[in-house]
Amino acid sequence: MASPILFFGLLPFVSLAALASDPSPLQDFCVADTNSQVFLNGLACKDPTKVEAKDFSSSGLHIAGNTSNPGGLGVTPVTTAQIPGLNTLGISLFRFDYAPGAVNPPHTHPRATEILTVLEGSLEVGFVTSNSHITKVLQKGDVFVFPIGLIHYQRNVGKVRATAIAAANSQNPGVIQVASAVFGSEPDIPSDVLAQAFRVDKNVVNYIRSKF
Ligand SMILES: *[C@@H]1O[C@H](CO)[C@@H](O)[C@H](O)[C@H]1NC(C)=O
Repeated sequence: MASPILFFGLLPFVSLAALASDPSPLQDFCVADTNSQVFLNGLACKDPTKVEAKDFSSSGLHIAGNTSNPGGLGVTPVTTAQIPGLNTLGISLFRFDYAPGAVNPPHTHPRATEILTVLEGSLEVGFVTSNSHITKVLQKGDVFVFPIGLIHYQRNVGKVRATAIAAANSQNPGVIQVASAVFGSEPDIPSDVLAQAFRVDKNVVNYIRSKF
């Protein structure tokens, strides 16, 4: 059995390894083989001798996303789904277009910190920690960071369309929408659990759930 001194002495190194976001690559690249049936952490590599420039590129990010939807939000992702060469590299990019008043509702990225800059318009942004709400109104050229795992949102508070570009330190940051995770999961989280959590009547829970 390892001595407690040895065990606790090793702890800082153990947690350092666990703090990183995506793991570091073990080779120059591992372009995703999107046809592979192998399930692993990330995607299997394509034969490196068959890799081409298009495996590392995409286009169209100058085109505004479609905001003709109930949320008024257009999201154009650039992850491993768009650029297979991003596999194992721990980074991705997004374009957001917001109609006036549009909200990117509270959500989290379980695997990435996000850094966002406003190209046009103005955005109210924020994230919540376990006990506080950090919020700011951003103008063109401003940059804001949403720390990994924390619930965050954006809202277009200008009179015109807003556009932002964001980068994330994961090839596949993932997204959990708070409202739909709580009220729209299948099977349901029991109504009485949510009634207690939100300190409301079960009918209120069922009413909100009916919106999902
Ligand atoms: C935008 O999305 C709406 C709703 O899905 C659709 O009707 C419309 O054709 C789309 N516009 C473009 C330019 O793709």
